[in-house]
Amino acid sequence: MRTTLLLSVAAHLLVSRADPTVDQENALLDPTAECAPYNYAPVTNALSAFPAAGTPVTGILAGDTAAQSKFDSFKANIPNIAPRGVNGVFATNATSSYPATDPDCWWTFGQCLTPKVAGLKPDIADVPEPRTLGYGFDDGPNCSHNAFYDYLTSKKQKATMFFIGTNVMFEPLQALRAAQDGHEICVHTWSHHPMTAFTNEQAFAELWYTMQSIKLVTGYTPTCWRPPQGDVDDRIRYIAQQLNLDNILWKYDAFDWKVASGQATPAEVQTNYDNLVADVGKGTFDTVGAIMLTHELDNYTMQTAIDNYPKLAAAFDHIVPVGVGYNKTQPYVEKNFTLPSFAQYIGSAAAGGGGGGNSASSSGGSTKAGSGSGSNTAAGSSPSSSGGAAGTGAAISVRLSFAGVLVSCAALLGAALVL
Ligand SMILES: *[C@@H]1O[C@H](CO)[C@@H](O)[C@H](O)[C@H]1NC(C)=O
Ligand SMILES: *[C@@H]1O[C@H](CO)[C@@H](O)[C@H](O)[C@H]1NC(C)=O
Ligand SMILES: *[C@@H]1O[C@H](CO)[C@@H](O)[C@H](O)[C@H]1NC(C)=O
Ligand SMILES: *[C@@H]1O[C@H](CO)[C@@H](O)[C@H](O)[C@H]1NC(C)=O
Ligand SMILES: *[C@@H]1O[C@H](CO)[C@@H](O)[C@H](O)[C@H]1NC(C)=O
Repeated sequence: MRTTLLLSVAAHLLVSRADPTVDQENALLDPTAECAPYNYAPVTNALSAFPAAGTPVTGILAGDTAAQSKFDSFKANIPNIAPRGVNGVFATNATSSYPATDPDCWWTFGQCLTPKVAGLKPDIADVPEPRTLGYGFDDGPNCSHNAFYDYLTSKKQKATMFFIGTNVMFEPLQALRAAQDGHEICVHTWSHHPMTAFTNEQAFAELWYTMQSIKLVTGYTPTCWRPPQGDVDDRIRYIAQQLNLDNILWKYDAFDWKVASGQATPAEVQTNYDNLVADVGKGTFDTVGAIMLTHELDNYTMQTAIDNYPKLAAAFDHIVPVGVGYNKTQPYVEKNFTLPSFAQYIGSAAAGGGGGGNSASSSGGSTKAGSGSGSNTAAGSSPSSSGGAAGTGAAISVRLSFAGVLVSCAALLGAALVL
């Protein structure tokens, strides 16, 4: 399990077909062909600058002076909150030993969104525009995402993609497609483990190396992130904020990630989507919009997103990337990419396309008066089970098996589900 996955990344990337271009990769629609390993020189040549893939980052790499000096610049000021576990695995008493007063604004404990440590930005868990859905997907890039991305393109729909660093290294052309399609790319950590169960340096490194992987492959450095399983507290918020990363959570959860592991049925997931749509009709979002947790994880989660898009587009007035909902027109450190403002995005939607800057031109979000009925509860996230962790464990093992490394994902699954 803890093998040096650097080797497996290299093996994965070197195994089969040679050097497809992004256009060639984008044109594939057969999942087997899409997922066949390929070589991508920018990644292969940079492996020594990255940690082992698929496992928790042990810390800043030896000799990485850029990372070390960044970490050293703020480490003395990190809130003094103890890690809630070791190497991304919660201690068994993590919640039972935690004070009910929630002193650290630990989301996993009580969905706290307003930090208690002074100077920390509040989390984002909805979008300010009324009757608007902030549209995003966790755990990508998935090797077989072309049908899904083609669908989004056909709807002139952009989304916020929360990418796992390991997946970016395994599927660089898929990550590049996301950038070229004009989606907003955010960090979803290197190994997809609960962040409060890491040391300060590990938590920093999980974010830092994911940022570097996205920069390596797409040319852009993200300024947003989402904690796996929503697991964040004021210590982790502080570290992310030093890296200029806005923290994006959610208030609705499709629980689509649970289907792969048999913890939820497709019917239950459909009910979660339907409840969100029903809440639009009930006026729940008449003053502030919504964010729902959904995944670019596998065929099921992506197909379910496609199947539900018309319903969401009919119910909400607008569907936008989270950054668009906040007029965050420069979502990356590099300034050669702009997202449209909210007004530009919905204006170009009305005009049927165009608008925005560079490759970010976009539109989307159908308009329609809300409707819907029926009862529901707000499918809120449960403290112990949100996020795509189980799926990620499976996802990583798939890529490892391509590389000829035998891996049981039980350890990762266990790590992800313990709380
Ligand atoms: C949680 O358990 C660990 C040992 O597993 C122990 O060291 C620690 O003190 C416990 N924390 C609390 C707050 O009880
Ligand atoms: C954006 O600018 C950065 C340098 O600041 C460059 O590395 C990157 O390739 C550029 N990306 C695009 C798509 O032009
Ligand atoms: C991507 O999706 C395919 C199709 O569902 C699935 O077989 C595969 O495991 C997924 N890969 C990753 C890395 O999640
Ligand atoms: C899911 O798989 C089916 C059957 O292979 C395919 O027709 C469909 O396009 C896939 N959906 C996505 C979103 O990849
Ligand atoms: C985004 O810009 C529009 C005006 O174009 C404004 O009405 C709205 O309040 C802005 N949203 C935020 C979050 O700043």
